[in-house]
Amino acid sequence: MSEASEIRQRGSKPAEVPGAEPSNEQILTKIAKTEDKGTPVFLEAVRTLLLLLIVSSALSYFVTREDIFWGMKRPAWTRPAVLKTWLNGPQEFTDEDLKKYDGSDPELPIYLAINGTIYDVSQGRRHYGPGGSYHFFSGADASRAFVTNCFKDDITPDMRGVEEMFMPLDDPEVDSLYTSGQLKVMRQQERKKAKDQVHANLKHWADFFEGSSKYPKVGRVKRQKDWETRGEKPVLCKRAHEGRKKRDPPPKA
Ligand SMILES: *[C@@H]1O[C@H](CO)[C@@H](O)[C@H](O)[C@H]1NC(C)=O
Repeated sequence: MSEASEIRQRGSKPAEVPGAEPSNEQILTKIAKTEDKGTPVFLEAVRTLLLLLIVSSALSYFVTREDIFWGMKRPAWTRPAVLKTWLNGPQEFTDEDLKKYDGSDPELPIYLAINGTIYDVSQGRRHYGPGGSYHFFSGADASRAFVTNCFKDDITPDMRGVEEMFMPLDDPEVDSLYTSGQLKVMRQQERKKAKDQVHANLKHWADFFEGSSKYPKVGRVKRQKDWETRGEKPVLCKRAHEGRKKRDPPPKA
């Protein structure tokens, strides 16, 4: 075939050299053609958005291991532990039973109790498991320690006398400025106010666990009726005792 006939066969189209970059003109023609008979732009946009949403959700889950949508709270019912708890119904454990749920057995959930209510804190294994900074709360009702912050001595639900940490210390020098009648009334008022403070402190933590979707409620600690008056009343731990101050002297008349 002669060079001339070859050109004729190809018509007036510019020569396409195989492997050469297409010209801008060719690209534009191609895009125009695709848009003509391809998917409508609107559908294309919807498809892109959906894809972005899926990729974002997957990425969010991958990064946070919690949320499908960045930062938004995952509904509690999507957690297996919560579902299991609901299916089981409220459970009862004795203080003794609770001990084995302290995280030392990786097969068991981690439980802690506060004011007699048990929560599953397995989702916080990093904090509540062995070596975690809150491990002392696990496998027990440590209500007393939640208030006193004595994490070694006060792993007990026994709250007897805790209010003393919020009461002034008796001091002969200051107290001699009051009559014995005045002192008696003051001590009563001090104790009442201190008990309210203990209640508020414990309630703060009880509310924290109750309000957390991460730590589902498991049930209640089963105890004997008179458990709160049994045995020796615990002594106020050193740390809590050291925070006490003397009574204020009477205001000068
Ligand atoms: C602890 O539980 C008892 C009932 O068992 C309740 O009367 C009390 O108010 C609770 N204390 C706090 C601080 O929530």
